[in-house]
Amino acid sequence: MNEQVQPAGGPLFDPLSPDFIRDPYPHYDRLRTIDPVHVTSFGQFVTSRHADVSLVMRDKRFGKDFVERTKRRYGPQIMDEPIFRSMGHWMLQADPPDHTRLRGLVVKAFTARRVEDMRPRIQEIVDQTIDAVIDRGHMDLIEDFAFRLPVTIICDMLGIPEDHREVFYKSLRDGGRLLDPVPMSPEEIAKGNAANMMAQMYFQQLFELRRRSPGDDLTTQLVQAEEDGNKLTNEELTANIILLFGAGHETTVNLIGNGLLALHRNPDQLALLKARPELMVGAIEEFLRYDSSVQMTGRVALEDVELGGKTIPKGESVLCLLGSANRDPAVYPEDPDRLDVTRPNVRPLSFGGGIHFCLGAQLARIEAEIAIATLLRRLPGLRIDDVENPEWRPTFVLRGLKRLPASW
Ligand code: HEM
Repeated sequence: MNEQVQPAGGPLFDPLSPDFIRDPYPHYDRLRTIDPVHVTSFGQFVTSRHADVSLVMRDKRFGKDFVERTKRRYGPQIMDEPIFRSMGHWMLQADPPDHTRLRGLVVKAFTARRVEDMRPRIQEIVDQTIDAVIDRGHMDLIEDFAFRLPVTIICDMLGIPEDHREVFYKSLRDGGRLLDPVPMSPEEIAKGNAANMMAQMYFQQLFELRRRSPGDDLTTQLVQAEEDGNKLTNEELTANIILLFGAGHETTVNLIGNGLLALHRNPDQLALLKARPELMVGAIEEFLRYDSSVQMTGRVALEDVELGGKTIPKGESVLCLLGSANRDPAVYPEDPDRLDVTRPNVRPLSFGGGIHFCLGAQLARIEAEIAIATLLRRLPGLRIDDVENPEWRPTFVLRGLKRLPASW
């Protein structure tokens, strides 16, 4: 029977509460132990064990079914809201065959080879970012350091001209609520519509520019696919460029920020990594596991599915807690709550799984590797001002810091 388990000590899953945002991991422990397939007060199913999360993301009995899922949550009128119409065209929210078609149009830009070729450019941006602050003796590791690299790289990939970029460097980064499993208020929806409209207006201009003067970039590629007919509509083109722009930076900023915080909270690991820089590639996997910048993805049951002794009825949403799966002792028996940059066999679920596995995974890994390695090498005396009480952004799915002041 699908009982709602709400033990003493508060609700098991209250992901926007300040306590949860500050440290979700004790909450995940309780979920995995007490009610690993938990039903929320919004009627969603929450999976927290590695095996279940992994299965739901890969199993064909689950899909995205975005329009029906969103109508169930907000009511039938919701798809009149421009922001939800736009999200409905994201490949991230699409099922085959649309998903296959949309992903197929961009996948080549993200192959391991293409991404490896970007190393010199990534190194150049990181060095310039450090050059700009090195004489100051202090900076905000988020705003002044982590933010600049992924935004510049995704602007390069999308062919956004240099003199258009300043506005993106100043953008507010508050689109995160769109992905959270707690419904948005009418004010939040209105804000989402406004931000989406601004982005659409900008990208329509960029499409015009790239039609007139094509470049070696993703926007040109997609604009040409749109002109070929049958491959994608103008709405799909705009929505997926906006998705790539958002997915391409927010998550990577937070991987770099969360990784730097974790390292400075564990000085033995920081010292080890400084002494043995060759551990950095494995350390990035451990940062992804230890405090993932994406905490959750979701699926919808396309038929009735039995899971963990419960029946998930067709049409119901299943939340996959990636951050919880990454600390499941069934997979990481050696003290999963400890940061260990030498941990063997780390395979975090932070990039999701199945047909939606993150397109930018290898790019994000290389950006974080070069950013963190260069920072440790060039600013060896760097210290975070307050490692105990940093300020987290108020969103759940995208987990990251508002700021992280540091000095050297
Ligand atoms: C999808 C995480 C960086 C583009 C996803 C998904 C996750 C994720 C969890 C959903 C997978 C699923 O539902 O199974 C991350 C993390 C990143 C990161 C943790 C950085 C640390 C990037 C970057 C880009 C990107 C740099 C692009 C430049 C995408 C796209 C999708 C996606 C386009 C949708 C793929 C699809 O539906 O087929 N990512 N991502 N991501 N990501 Fe990332």
